Amino acid sequence: MTEKALTKKNRFMEWIDERYPWTEFMRKHLTEYYAPKNFNFWYYFGSFSLLVFVMQILTGIWLVMEYIPTSDGAFASVQHIMREVRFGWLLRFMHTTGASAFFVVVYLHMYRGLIYGSYQRPRELVWLIGMVIYFALLIEAFTGYVLPWGQMSFWGAAVITSFAGAIPYLGNVLLVWLRGDFNVSGVTLHRFFSLHVIAIPFFLAILIFVHLVALHKVGSNNPDGIDIKAKKNQEGIPLDGIPFHPYYTVKDLVGVVVFLFVFSLVVFFTPKMGGYFLEHDNFILANPMVTPLEISPVWYMTPFYAMLRAIPNKLFGLMTMAAGIAIMFVLPWLDRSRVRSIRYKGPLSKIAILIFVISFIGLGYLGSEPVSPLYTFIARVLTVTYFGFFLLMPIYTSYEKTKKLPERVTE
Ligand code: HEM
Repeated sequence: MTEKALTKKNRFMEWIDERYPWTEFMRKHLTEYYAPKNFNFWYYFGSFSLLVFVMQILTGIWLVMEYIPTSDGAFASVQHIMREVRFGWLLRFMHTTGASAFFVVVYLHMYRGLIYGSYQRPRELVWLIGMVIYFALLIEAFTGYVLPWGQMSFWGAAVITSFAGAIPYLGNVLLVWLRGDFNVSGVTLHRFFSLHVIAIPFFLAILIFVHLVALHKVGSNNPDGIDIKAKKNQEGIPLDGIPFHPYYTVKDLVGVVVFLFVFSLVVFFTPKMGGYFLEHDNFILANPMVTPLEISPVWYMTPFYAMLRAIPNKLFGLMTMAAGIAIMFVLPWLDRSRVRSIRYKGPLSKIAILIFVISFIGLGYLGSEPVSPLYTFIARVLTVTYFGFFLLMPIYTSYEKTKKLPERVTE
């Protein structure tokens, strides 16, 4: 930039800064936000989650321009988007692939939190807000899946809303209130549309903001799980910290390129992902008179669905499923370990995390397959091991021997 242009820019920024704390904000949260210098692969998924959120909002806005939220018009309007709207197919496949990608990156983001103990003091609120985001995401995905008004949209909505009917005494009233009708109908579709495009995205945007404010208050954890603020130089800058911008913005940008490459491969070559991202039955118009042979939710909900199916009593099954999600909220208070990161925890914690991963993936697989006596048996075992991981955590984390923490971050 020439000197003249620079002075102009400075004057413009001064004008802004006198009226809005722009430079102060950028310093506090980017150029002078000191993040641990040892972030690794697992630290990409927060930025990816943010990227997918923005992508979903943008593609969603364009889809809504052509989508019709009525039981007569919805299915046909999606076909219209796919066949007649210019690049409509691309917008739709970006949005459907984005939904699954969102859960891929959020699950990996949560797993990072789990292995490095990022939920432990003082980051309990960062984790809790994250869990509210996760729950809101599940509702966002479910309401979105109803919108194309295919067979799985209709029957998925029928099954999931029917859960409310299992609640003693209030069940029937709740069910009609939720559906807005005596059965899933165009009224249900319209209210889910409203939730999917306005209420939940709005709520999510606020939650993501609050999630990051909470994180910046306490500072990021790192793969060693040690506090970088404990060792500072004379200027008060953590010795093991580097400014988030430009170091991590550039690093994340490289990750974004790789992510978008993989994302494009799915969008262009296998958007249905063999029925995992878009189920085959959802290419058939919703028909209340014909039940599909198998009704199962999309892959990201199947671990909890498998828990529900593993239990013979419907109400008890529902409670187990709800507990499967609820127990993750209290994780910060279950871990009694003196150290955060798995690197310094004892063998019991390592085995426990392995069992948790096997249980979660195993349940996810079983929940997407037709029921059989053998699968039901395995699902019961995995439900027990899933809960065992959490419920026994106060015991194995307080008794096991941990390794000595390093003084400074190790990489
Ligand atoms: C839309 C969804 C989400 C977005 C956009 C998001 C975004 C972010 C970002 C940008 C960071 C900082 C960078 C990083 O540490 O990777 C972060 C950190 C964190 N997030 Fe999320 N997040 C989301 C969901 C969740 C969920 C579901 C959880 C857990 C239940 C969670 C728990 C955490 C924790 C514990 C940290 C701090 C990690 C550390 O310092 O080691 N987040 N999040």
